[in-house]
Amino acid sequence: MKKVGVALLGLGTVGGGTYRILKSMHDDIMASDGVDIEIRRIIERDVAKAEALGVDPALLSTDINDVISDPEIKIVAEFFGGIEPARSFLIASLKAGKSIVTANKEMFSKCMEDLKAAAIEGNAGLYFEASCVGGVPVIRALTESMQGNRIDSIMGIVNGTTNYILTKMADEGLEYADVLKEAQRLGYAEANPSADVDGFDSMYKLSILSTLCFRKHVPLDKIYREGISKISKTDIEYGKRFGYTLKLLAIGKLTHGKIEARVHPAFILNSNPLASVKGSFNAVLIHGNNVDDVMLYGRGAGDLPTGSAIVSDIVYAAVQDKHKLFNYSSDVSDEDFADDFTSEYYVRMTVKDKAGVLAKIAAAFGKYGVSINSVQQQAEDGKASIIFMIHRTSEAALKKAATETESLNDVISVDTIIRVI
Ligand code: HSE
Repeated sequence: MKKVGVALLGLGTVGGGTYRILKSMHDDIMASDGVDIEIRRIIERDVAKAEALGVDPALLSTDINDVISDPEIKIVAEFFGGIEPARSFLIASLKAGKSIVTANKEMFSKCMEDLKAAAIEGNAGLYFEASCVGGVPVIRALTESMQGNRIDSIMGIVNGTTNYILTKMADEGLEYADVLKEAQRLGYAEANPSADVDGFDSMYKLSILSTLCFRKHVPLDKIYREGISKISKTDIEYGKRFGYTLKLLAIGKLTHGKIEARVHPAFILNSNPLASVKGSFNAVLIHGNNVDDVMLYGRGAGDLPTGSAIVSDIVYAAVQDKHKLFNYSSDVSDEDFADDFTSEYYVRMTVKDKAGVLAKIAAAFGKYGVSINSVQQQAEDGKASIIFMIHRTSEAALKKAATETESLNDVISVDTIIRVI
């Protein structure tokens, strides 16, 4: 039986989950894939954490050279998170001919070019199934199962924390700040929640996913990003009245040959399959020219779901005779990316409740070609809250119209602009 040595860099949540799966599934993997996966080294400073998992203390080290210099270690799985030392350790491993497996979406999205070069130099494999949508096999679907297609769009809920928050706000009529506090208390959101709630985590994943979909490197600076921290229960409630659910979406699209990549909250029709993805679950909807729609759904985070994706990559890497690197073009320029996009919009504003205000707003919209689909108004105490549903228009035009509207004397504030899918 083929024996393959593995090193684990870190035993945090996902590292621990991976260790447990490698132990509990060892014999099943031998039976199904004909490979004996041996954990030969674990880089971890926290001995108590290792003891709690029942790790043999002889496997522990704090020196990456114990991994690099062991010729029996063929695969290095990384769980440190962040850029350094993960990046340097993985590049050194690749150059030494060891394949790498990582869940580190931030590092992978920022360093994929360096990692690819090191993998080519070391003739090693680069595996990152766990970096996007945790336990959901979206990377393998894109790289191994959809070659008969040109993919023209990917749209997904790729962050569990924000989906948990938005679901709870919608189901229980709560405000963002209250749900965030509870999510932090329950451990669903970090003490510093910015990576999730400001859309960074989704942006890292979208960079990786859209690079695979469109076979061109989609760097982070080409992705529009907006988080959920300004969403109020008022907007979620109004959305419900129109038949919409609010989700934080990661969207990659090819429009007239240009790549459009954006992360932002959006209203989707309740009939859209993504609307029923609730709580911490994730889902991705991919469209190929031949297969049509493909939807993948499951847990995007957690020790065992993400560990499941890591172990799948370890086994996959272990049985390859020759590693195949996914082909994409690194040679991209501004020309490859759309500098604007179109959408329908929901716009809520607060105005003085007096004659002629609506006409002035409609005129400001009209000046930029922004056309109103419907209006709902609620007036109270001399003020009115107005919701405009706007026909498809360009984002640039909508923003100009909103700025001009906000400068009108009778407009108190443009409170919210939400794209409608
Ligand atoms: N913080 C992420 C989430 C974990 O909430 O989905 C996986 O990236």
